[in-house]
Amino acid sequence: MTQITFIEPSGQEVTVDIKDGWSLMQGATSGGVDGIVAECGGSCACATCHCYVDEARLAELPVPSDAELAMLENVAAERRPNSRLSCQIKAMPSLAGLRVALPETQE
Ligand code: FES
Repeated sequence: MTQITFIEPSGQEVTVDIKDGWSLMQGATSGGVDGIVAECGGSCACATCHCYVDEARLAELPVPSDAELAMLENVAAERRPNSRLSCQIKAMPSLAGLRVALPETQE
């Protein structure tokens, strides 16, 4: 299990223990975190699981695939250098304590 802290659009912080190998999107949605829609269910086809990863730890994450980069063009909220799709990031021990903010809108 990897502990990830999500910052909901309201500013409320929710910490979730996510099974290693699960995506951050799966962990957040099953943990009741507000701010992710995940319309496509995690197949990198909707961009409604947009999140902002803690910039200081961005380099620790696997680089986004071409498909993720293409889908990031379609996010509803402002795209930032630390924008990622939460369905494309797998929980793993090295990411323990990661802070992930969710945008004000996903659609
Ligand atoms: S859930 Fe659709 S792109 Fe992540």
